[in-house]
Amino acid sequence: MKSSAIAHSNIALIKYWGRSQEHDPNLNIPLNDTVSMTKYGISDGIRLQTHTTIEFSSDFDEDTAIVEREKITGRHRERIIRVIDHLRALAKVDDKFKMMSHNDFPVQAGLASSASAFAALALATADALGLKFSREELSKIARLGSGSAARSIHGGFVYCHKGNSHETAFAEQICTEDCFDMNAVIAVVDLEKKEVTSDEGHQFANTSPFNNIRIQKSQQQASEMRRLILENKFDAVGQIAETNCLYMHSVMMTSQPALFYWQPATLNIIKKIQHLRKEGLPSYFTIDAGPNVHCLCQSKNTGELQKIIEKIEGVKRTILVRPGGDTILTNEHLF
Ligand code: DP6
Repeated sequence: MKSSAIAHSNIALIKYWGRSQEHDPNLNIPLNDTVSMTKYGISDGIRLQTHTTIEFSSDFDEDTAIVEREKITGRHRERIIRVIDHLRALAKVDDKFKMMSHNDFPVQAGLASSASAFAALALATADALGLKFSREELSKIARLGSGSAARSIHGGFVYCHKGNSHETAFAEQICTEDCFDMNAVIAVVDLEKKEVTSDEGHQFANTSPFNNIRIQKSQQQASEMRRLILENKFDAVGQIAETNCLYMHSVMMTSQPALFYWQPATLNIIKKIQHLRKEGLPSYFTIDAGPNVHCLCQSKNTGELQKIIEKIEGVKRTILVRPGGDTILTNEHLF
C-alpha cells in the first residue's frame, strides 16, 4: 500500500484563468480549453519535478501530509484530501494515509508547483490503492487538486478540454516530447511566494469586463495551436502563446481587485524579446500568475537566448527547460 510517483510541471501556452461557476468550484472546471508544454529542467539539477510517496495503513491514526518536511494544514491540505478521498471511495478503503512530497524548485512562485504536485499525488495514490486508470482518467483526478495538474499527467504537448462536467473535463496528449522543437529560458525575477495565489485569483476572473472575450478567443486559439504544433510551426505557436498570455494578464489587471503579477524586470524582458525578434532571433514570452517570464525558443537558440536574458536588469537567474515526459511511478520512496 505504498507507492511513489514523479511528475513535471508545465507551462500553459493557452492559459486557464477562472473556474466555471456553473459547477461545484471544487471540481476546478476551467472556463476555456488550454494547451501546455510539460517541462523538464536542464539547469543545475533543477528538473522542475515533484516526487511524492504515499502509504495507506490501518496502523495510522490520522491522515498526514508533509511537503518539504513541513506538515501541511489549511486549504492546501483540503485539496490533497479531496484527491485522496475521491480515490479512497473508489477503492472502498478507509485506511489513513501518510504522504511526503518534495519539489526540486521553489513553490508558489509562478513555476507551477501545484501542477506537478497534484499529478504526482493522483498517480501515486491510485497505484497505492491498487486502482488502474487511463491517463485521461487520471487527468480528471489530478484536476480535483489543481486545474493545471490535469495537463502534467501527460508528457510533451497537451490539450485540456474544459468540458462541462467532471467526466468531460480532461487532458489529452497532442504529441510526445520529441514531436515539436520548443524550449524555454525561464527568466527568474522573484522566487518569493506570491501575494495572491492562482487558487484565489481564479475567483476574480469574471469581475473583469474582458473575461468573456478572453474565453471566446482562447477557445479559438487552443484548437488553432493544436494544429500548428502538429504542423511544427514554431513562430505561429509562439505568437499565439504571447497574445494569449497578454489576454490573461489584461483580465488580471482589470479584475476586482486588480491583480498585477508583473514587476519592472518583467517588462524589461518583454521588451527585450520583442526587440530580439526584430533582430532575427525568434523568441516569444509567456507569463503565469507571477513575475517570472518563460522565453520560448527553438533548441538551437537556447544557449544564445540564455546569455542575453541573463544580462537583463532585474533577472536573478535563468532555468532552461525542454519538453518533459509523462508522470511516472518510481520505486524510490521518500520514507
Ligand atoms: C496562470 O492550476 O494553479 O498558471 O486550479 O487553483 O491550482 P488551481 O490553479 P492553477 O492555475 C493555473 C493558472 C495559470 C495558467 C495555467 O497554468 O493555465
